[in-house]
Amino acid sequence: MKMKAIVDRDTCIGCGLCAEICPAVFEMDDEELACVIVDVIPEEEEANAQEAADSCPVAAITIED
Ligand code: F3S
Repeated sequence: MKMKAIVDRDTCIGCGLCAEICPAVFEMDDEELACVIVDVIPEEEEANAQEAADSCPVAAITIED
């Protein structure tokens, strides 16, 4: 399964949790908002990416199959 992560940057409040939980997929950029640094989530990071999405306080992250 190829999963993708999307950050809605209009919704992100820059809390940084996603980059902390799953730094292989999410990074804080120079606007202090999260961005996705991979096209496809590596299989071994899928659970972490999902956890990051579930942990985002404003639900800015979507994980897509
Ligand atoms: Fe933003 Fe949510 Fe990550 S607020 S920094 S997308 S945990």
